[in-house]
Amino acid sequence: MKSVVIERPGELQLAQRADLQPAHGEVRVKVKFASICGSDVHIWHGHNPFAKYPRVIGHEFFGVIDAVGDAVDSHRIGERVAVDPVVSCGHCYPCSVGKPNVCSTLQVIGVHRDGGFSDYAVVPAANAYLLPDNIPDRLASLVEPFTIAANITAYLQPQPQDTALIYGAGPMGLTAIQVLKGVYGVKRVLVVDRLPERLQLAMENGADRTFNNADIPLAAQLEGVQPTLIIDAACHPSIMAEAAALASPAARIGLLGFSGEPSTITQQSLTSKELSLFTSRLNSKRFPQVIGWMEQGLIQPEKLVTHYFPLHDIEQAMTLFEKDPRTCCKVILQMS
Ligand code: NAI
Ligand code: MN
Ligand code: ZN
Repeated sequence: MKSVVIERPGELQLAQRADLQPAHGEVRVKVKFASICGSDVHIWHGHNPFAKYPRVIGHEFFGVIDAVGDAVDSHRIGERVAVDPVVSCGHCYPCSVGKPNVCSTLQVIGVHRDGGFSDYAVVPAANAYLLPDNIPDRLASLVEPFTIAANITAYLQPQPQDTALIYGAGPMGLTAIQVLKGVYGVKRVLVVDRLPERLQLAMENGADRTFNNADIPLAAQLEGVQPTLIIDAACHPSIMAEAAALASPAARIGLLGFSGEPSTITQQSLTSKELSLFTSRLNSKRFPQVIGWMEQGLIQPEKLVTHYFPLHDIEQAMTLFEKDPRTCCKVILQMS
């Protein structure tokens, strides 16, 4: 089989690898489509603090179960599945309170163990979720990015009367827009980015109004509107303080960033308005929820996709994804 292997930081190869066999409790997935995420690029360049090398990357993927290990029902062979990359122990403190996404022995497929940019992947059977027929193969790898939005919105509890503000109109911001509008019916969703092309995508994904903060600070453009729900999907460390300053009293703020740089913020800016801060990492068993949203047509994954490439063009696909955010959003790889 062919797999995209990052041998060590900076060294990406499309390598021939030995066939995989599913171990006890695992299934083997013949991968059909996989989507590129910023974290794949980070692992390539050695900028992901969690990655171990060599690594087969890819944590957003779809395929068909073609073999099962011991203790897995052989009737699962042939199932069309989307794979949850979060592998958790099920009994530690975070797992016991419904946060397997921060399990004390968390393993992320494509980061800590080999992933889906490959002809085949082996994964725990419980991580492979059966898809309904009306989710097409070519969009099925996009369940995973929507689970990020599902997770943070589960904490933020959006209401129709919210005025939401989303920082960043990349894949994460766009999935958040779609979920706020399509699932929660939020009346007003504002989006800020510095790239006009990304703001155009935000409108196509359901934003009500967009702002470009490349030259003029957002505060000078909001005309006194105070967002009641803010999601930082741009993740610059300076955003938290700006969000707190712009927020309505009693607003909720959701953070997705992993920067190691400090964010400077005063207690006063948070406590005087009694702001609630939520952080969210990956997803805590949100695949069934997102699959349901897709099945019901509440979200439109096709609106994120700008490119398809065959697996063997991986380097070209990753480079375009990395270097060209003006023309590129979700890039999907097709296996042979
Ligand atoms: P992206 O880089 O495609 O999108 C970020 C967008 O924010 C870009 O369009 C950029 O122009 C814009 N931006 C940057 N600085 C800005 C600023 N100061 N004000 C307004 N807009 C600004 O990235 P993607 O894939 O959408 O991911 C966004 C962030 O979410 C990344 O930092 C990533 O690490 C994080 N992330 C977090 C996850 C989690 O589970 N917590 C999962 C996936 C991504
Ligand atoms: Mn991802
Ligand atoms: Zn655990």
